[in-house]
Amino acid sequence: MNRSKKIAFFDAKPYDRKSFDPNNKNFGFDISYFDAHLNEKTVELTCDFDAVCVFVNDTLNKSVIEHLIEHGIQVIGLRCAGYNNVDFKTAYNKIHVLRVPAYSPYAVAEHAAALILSLNRKIHKAYSRTREGNFSINGLLGFDMHGKTAGIVGTGKIGRCLISILKGFGMDILAYDRFLDEEYAKDAKISYVPLEELFEKSDIISLHCPLNRETEYLINKKSIGKMKPGVMIINTGRGKLIDTQALIEGLKCGKIGSAGLDVYEEESDYFFEDRSADMITDDVLARLLTFPNVLITSHQGFFTTEALQKIAETTLGNFKEFFEGGYLKNEVCYKCENPCLKKQNKRCF
Ligand code: NAI
Repeated sequence: MNRSKKIAFFDAKPYDRKSFDPNNKNFGFDISYFDAHLNEKTVELTCDFDAVCVFVNDTLNKSVIEHLIEHGIQVIGLRCAGYNNVDFKTAYNKIHVLRVPAYSPYAVAEHAAALILSLNRKIHKAYSRTREGNFSINGLLGFDMHGKTAGIVGTGKIGRCLISILKGFGMDILAYDRFLDEEYAKDAKISYVPLEELFEKSDIISLHCPLNRETEYLINKKSIGKMKPGVMIINTGRGKLIDTQALIEGLKCGKIGSAGLDVYEEESDYFFEDRSADMITDDVLARLLTFPNVLITSHQGFFTTEALQKIAETTLGNFKEFFEGGYLKNEVCYKCENPCLKKQNKRCF
């Protein structure tokens, strides 16, 4: 490398700088941190850069990607696993998209488990009660997880970690995945079932599949109708896996017993930001926050020291591979399911 490659780093938070700066000592990139999200308004900031580094709520639609290409940027580094915010059709053949496929499945699975335990035993309510001198346990009744059934949608890295945690509690597991791994199911002693059966039989349903055209609004009025009364729904996947309006209706009529949401379909204006001095203008989010049996966390499933370290290392390693002209093992594109390219260790284009 002649001069240091310049990276425009969007949606930069103090904890990002803390993990990227020390790691960058091994890579020597020239990183400029921007607090703003990347979108149509801020894309102009990228004109002097070689690369952009973005996160889950940055916009990478057709218009933004076309601007990046105009500015001569050849690579987008996602510092996350999910890539539902990228318009791959526009990107293909023009700009490479790299991601961090796995940083800590344990972090997200453990967070899902934390949501389940808190909702079941109402720890969020007990915490406020005892701090105010209220030691009554009225209304805090939970259920034994032992012997109950958990339905896991998506048995990838995170889904599998959560399955092993929940099996530790003595839960029975029903799983659904678009691609069945029977060997895993046999080893883990779990059963794959059709989605409908999972909805009908599960006491707790947890979502760990990617967001795509098939999974958008997987939890909707119809699927909620099939669920057990009092079911707990956990979403640490992506907000749009759930039709929030249908979720609210399900909560209002008591069909849904509780919901733990680390993601929300319209999260980008709120999540990761301190909005405590503002009025919430999103009426759906505001309504969700009124339910005592809904626990919302602000997309913090990934947020552990170990995961941040892995994210920084892998993201910077991805940029290095790109600028050194090597094979991009963490490239994503809408043709990247093509196993030949992966086998030949070639770039997608
Ligand atoms: P993974 O790729 O290891 O597993 C995803 C699983 O979903 C695979 O087994 C895949 O076959 C399955 N799948 C694909 N399409 C499906 C469909 N239509 N129906 C059912 N299953 C389907 O991904 P990983 O690492 O387990 O992550 C899962 C999701 O978790 C990510 O896509 C991302 O959206 C979310 N995530 C959330 C984080 C957070 O902080 N809350 C952090 C990291 C990921």
